[in-house]
Amino acid sequence: AVPTPAPTGPTPVVLDVDTGVDDACALLLAARHPALDLRAVTCVAGNAEVDQVVRNTLSVLDVAGRPDVPVARGATRPLLEPARPARHVHGEDGLGDLDDAVRPRSERRPDPRHAVELLRDVALAAAEAGEELTLVPLAPMTNVALALRTYPELARGLRRIVFMGGAARHGNATAAAEFNVWHDPEAAAVVLDAAGELGIPVTMYGLDVFYDVRVTRSTATDLIGRTDPVARLAGALIDFQCRRFAEDDATIGDAGAVCAVIDPDGLSTQRLPVRVELSGSWTRGQTVVDRRDWGGDQDHDAHGLAPALIDVALGVQAERYARLWL
Ligand code: BDR
Ligand code: CA
Repeated sequence: AVPTPAPTGPTPVVLDVDTGVDDACALLLAARHPALDLRAVTCVAGNAEVDQVVRNTLSVLDVAGRPDVPVARGATRPLLEPARPARHVHGEDGLGDLDDAVRPRSERRPDPRHAVELLRDVALAAAEAGEELTLVPLAPMTNVALALRTYPELARGLRRIVFMGGAARHGNATAAAEFNVWHDPEAAAVVLDAAGELGIPVTMYGLDVFYDVRVTRSTATDLIGRTDPVARLAGALIDFQCRRFAEDDATIGDAGAVCAVIDPDGLSTQRLPVRVELSGSWTRGQTVVDRRDWGGDQDHDAHGLAPALIDVALGVQAERYARLWL
């Protein structure tokens, strides 16, 4: 079972992003939904190079009317591999190359701290205040891996991790691997290992549900026609994806993981052992989800021996989450 949000007050959350068209959808939701208290956003190289991710993130938070949320620059590249931006998916600027009128450039400077330091400070401040944050990585988990290994004490301020990444079935960056895990497999492996060691519950919002939560192009057109700048940006983000992939609707993507924090009952999960494939000719970055429904092969690889048991999202009430986002 997925833990439910704390009974009183909005749930404090921190997002780790590579903004990113669908990260922007997630930021808008986290910044504006009254059930969430967005404490900080950390940026990492992924869909775009990290300085562009910072610029995009600041712009989106400006549009959302949240200049109060600290934004920190994090890792410029994965732990081992070079960065491999996804311009073919997210546009040259990582944010759909939208018009300045919809996505104004931000004047704001990022927080002077590195993402790892901001994560530590925000988590420890929460712990001091007797609170627990939900950490929502929506990008390659380089920052999160570095933070958990450098400052394991920050786990005291974490209630759980809900990450977008991985897949029980098939990948997208490759046949086997989902982009965020594929971009930094070592980081994902470290995060699962550290979460197991530190006792942090983890939910994996992966490709088995990611593409299911969709908004139509006609709804996007309606949003673009409104005066509210948040609605206009949200509509433009969906519209960009519809155009890019020549489809009549588009996923809200990473925003679904934020929906899962607000409304965990909309997600079906199963607690399963998950490992990250770090080698393999064609499978590097795959999340190997052990779905064997018997005890496993006790001599070769017993079911349940992976370092982390993860609540893997295997089904989503797509309409419910799309409505929530809208
Ligand atoms: C993930 O990869 C990125 O392109 C998206 O922002 C999302 O986080 C989907 O595989
Ligand atoms: Ca992302």
